[in-house]
Amino acid sequence: MPTFRFIDPADVDADTLVVPTRAGVPLPDGLPADVVALAVDHSGKGGVVEVLPRPTQRPSKVLLVGVGDGGASGWRAAGAGLARSTARTSTVTVVLPAGDDTDLRAFAEGVLLGSYRFRLGAPRPDAPPALDEVLLAGTPDEAALATARATAEATMLARDLTNMPSDEKTPEWFAEQVSAAAAAYDGLTISVREPEQLAAEGFGGILAVGGGSSRGPRLVELTWSPAQATQHVVLVGKGITFDTGGISIKPRDAMKLMRKDMGGAAAVVAATIAAAALRLPVRVTALAPLAENLVSGSAFRPGDVIRHYGGRTSESNNSDAEGRLVLADALAYAVDRLDPDLIVDLATLTGANAVALGKRTAALYSDNDGLAKSFAEAATDAGEQVWRMPLTTDYRDFLSSELADLSSIASEGGAGSVMAALYLAEFAGPLRDRWVHIDMSAPSWIESDSSELSKGATGWGVRTLLRWLASL
Ligand code: BES
Ligand code: MN
Ligand code: ZN
Repeated sequence: MPTFRFIDPADVDADTLVVPTRAGVPLPDGLPADVVALAVDHSGKGGVVEVLPRPTQRPSKVLLVGVGDGGASGWRAAGAGLARSTARTSTVTVVLPAGDDTDLRAFAEGVLLGSYRFRLGAPRPDAPPALDEVLLAGTPDEAALATARATAEATMLARDLTNMPSDEKTPEWFAEQVSAAAAAYDGLTISVREPEQLAAEGFGGILAVGGGSSRGPRLVELTWSPAQATQHVVLVGKGITFDTGGISIKPRDAMKLMRKDMGGAAAVVAATIAAAALRLPVRVTALAPLAENLVSGSAFRPGDVIRHYGGRTSESNNSDAEGRLVLADALAYAVDRLDPDLIVDLATLTGANAVALGKRTAALYSDNDGLAKSFAEAATDAGEQVWRMPLTTDYRDFLSSELADLSSIASEGGAGSVMAALYLAEFAGPLRDRWVHIDMSAPSWIESDSSELSKGATGWGVRTLLRWLASL
């Protein structure tokens, strides 16, 4: 991962010089005439990189990197564009514009996240050298860099966990990874419940969904507890380490990528670890209900009635609607035992998320306007898209059941993401208006590199959660 160092603009002696450009905005003084001439034709569009080779001269290469309108997304794209186009250069020097025209945090996040690649095992011996050091000629701001680094590292942890193939990624493995990552920070505590403990305490949803796998379920509870905290936020993340759909099995194409069905769990634990790294003054508990939804003689059946933590029951008529069953246990537990001020859950919950909003936007649900607004603002700041959807009261009746307190799937079609949210709302219970639900099925994964996102898991939610937690 590249490192950053500030240098005095008077001391620039670069072999590779990077000049951020913004259409219509003049370049800093003192650049060679050929660079200035090229900049005239540069669009300045965020992330667009123009390379000017200058053999026998110094600098021997100049990169013009567009920062768009100079806002956070432009700087983030510029950082990522720089990282992607300099993967074979070990050191680059960036001439930062004077004044406060630089969004250093966004730029550094872009550089770090744009450098991300998932690899299993050791790097290939023939792998090209990676960008190693970024010298920043301009006003030092170490705090912005430290925040960017903690944010990017947490996002990469979430990406690594989500990209990991499910032969290795069992619920137990996930819990071990979280324990290992959390061990580096003071003030983080972790508990991992195994199946016997889950049974003793009545976590029937997690046990039902995990029952078809020889690799049993877990519940991870990770807490960041700073002394000065006045608020307690509980973050719940769906942790299905592989989703076959169970007995209600998925068609083959729909199943192929279902190792990613724990992206919510990855995001909430990574954000909690970063909250500790950044010493945010808010108490945070991440709950990750982890289970593998498989098909076997011990799998749960369509029509089963599941008794959740706390005693509420669900009639489950489709074993592929498994995420809400594990989340129901975790939400009920949070409400009953953790005394939260606010609860947020993140889940790769429904294919309907992408039907409604496309591949880049998560669905946000909350009855609380202020909470919905502050969360959406954090997402915009972070460069992650959310769109608020309604918890349509009139549809609640479609979840009624003759056998149980409620049905896990709707009796009437349509609004799949909304129906899942309405189901979860029942488990937020008395805290319903201090609860946000995020359906992030769509933006948790990307098919090809784009700005700071690299093909595969995006780590969606980590950057939003960290900005939101810092705003409380
Ligand atoms: N994990 C899936 C949702 C999903 C789909 C995530 C595509 C990412 C990409 C979830 O468990 C699921 O299968 N949902 C069902 C719910 C239905 C059975 C009510 C769905 O969306 O079809
Ligand atoms: Mn499913
Ligand atoms: Zn699922």
